[in-house]
Amino acid sequence: MVSNKIRLGVNIDHVATVRNARGGFHPDPVRAALLAEKAGADGITAHLREDRRHIRDEDMERLMKEIKTPLNFEMAATDEMLDIVTRLKPASSCLVPEKREELTTEGGLDVVGNFDHLAVYIPKLKEAGISVSLFIDADVDQIRASKQLGANKVELHTGAYCDATGKDRFIELGRLRAGAKYCGDINLEVHAGHGLNYETVRDVAAIPEFTEFNIGHFLIGEAIFVGLECSIARMRELMDEGRGI
Ligand code: PXP
Repeated sequence: MVSNKIRLGVNIDHVATVRNARGGFHPDPVRAALLAEKAGADGITAHLREDRRHIRDEDMERLMKEIKTPLNFEMAATDEMLDIVTRLKPASSCLVPEKREELTTEGGLDVVGNFDHLAVYIPKLKEAGISVSLFIDADVDQIRASKQLGANKVELHTGAYCDATGKDRFIELGRLRAGAKYCGDINLEVHAGHGLNYETVRDVAAIPEFTEFNIGHFLIGEAIFVGLECSIARMRELMDEGRGI
């Protein structure tokens, strides 16, 4: 039986942001990942940026060795990242924009504009046994291009929805709903992420096509006040509530 429950991927990048503010080893993002798993995370997400502003190469090495749930390795489509990820072989990689020209207007990866570039990287990732996700806006052309490129899944950018207020938020939610439905229609697995918090998560969780959320900044920030296990447990509850579980 297929579970209706949405998987929760916990992004631990900003534990590394705090660590790097002082140098040294504390707080350790791998320790946070292990705690997140204990609190019910279904996977761990980390983004190795080209400038290494938070997660570092050795964090990714340790995550691969120490966590029990699948690692979702966020990365730009570059040769350097391809070398690292095909050596580490995490369960999945999510290709994200890092440079301005890789962005569409609202912030996702411009798959249409970078079609030929991505066509080089996606097959190499898949050949290494890594499932490929593309982080895109809820736009039919971007979704269609992702499917044409053979991506295993897409992650719809929820930032515009989370930033919007009043009737604009309603409009953005409609875009996410339509985008997710289109993914369902063309048989493309669909995830969501960016900016989700206690206030915004429920309505997105109610969209039936979404199978996974990746959430970081809010969970790590809220952990300062209530602890990571509590912030994750509350998010889990709200996701289940939105799904009507
Ligand atoms: N999904 C992707 C592809 C991301 O790059 C990020 C981090 O920006 C997230 C999800 C998590 O976003 P947030 O930290 O705002 O929860």
